[in-house]
Amino acid sequence: MKIGIISGSVREGNNAAAVSQWILDFANNRNDEGVEYELVSLADYDLPLLGAKLPIERQEAAGAAIQAWSEKIASFDGYVFVTPEYNHAVGGALKNAIDFLKPEVANKAAALVGYGSLGGARAHENLRVILGELSVATVRTTTNFSLMTDFENMSVFKPNDYNKVNAEGMFNDLLLWTKALNTIR
Ligand SMILES: Cc1cc2nc3c(=O)[nH]c(=O)nc-3n(C[C@H](O)[C@H](O)[C@H](O)COP(=O)(O)O)c2cc1C
Repeated sequence: MKIGIISGSVREGNNAAAVSQWILDFANNRNDEGVEYELVSLADYDLPLLGAKLPIERQEAAGAAIQAWSEKIASFDGYVFVTPEYNHAVGGALKNAIDFLKPEVANKAAALVGYGSLGGARAHENLRVILGELSVATVRTTTNFSLMTDFENMSVFKPNDYNKVNAEGMFNDLLLWTKALNTIR
């Protein structure tokens, strides 16, 4: 089983990178038999805005980026989406990247990790609705880091240990549903 951990911000100096690395390390430390975890950073894919008119000299690179994103996402059996919260929703870059997908993610499971003043909880509820439309089953347990208490100056990631309880439950749920959904694809 392959699980992709998607770091969902393209902002320079984003907090998603540190949170995603923590989630990857946590996942690898579980030593789940037969499960491979891989970190995918949205910032590494120079995706255009869906449907935007591009100058001719940018079209080939944009097409290649869309293709690479599609193939990478299709290669996983399940996902952990790590999302910031912007105006009580997922960030625009992650929403745009998800809008390129459909068959790549259908009938797969996903877990949600977030951070924000309320732990990214509102971004999660928004993301559940978006992923539901793509036939992705989002597990109940989430991991929510507070910008106030799990970061210093809202920018240096210093997660409290209690987050491990939620992360453990989240991965347990995710692997169960990923296995189950493998049987219907
Ligand atoms: C335009 C904008 C809107 C934001 N809206 C929210 C919000 O609604 N809730 C929240 O908790 N944080 C909000 N924030 C704070 C971001 O979640 C915070 O800056 C976070 O680090 C962004 O993630 P990133 O660094 O990975 O890009 C907002 C930040 C910006 C710039």
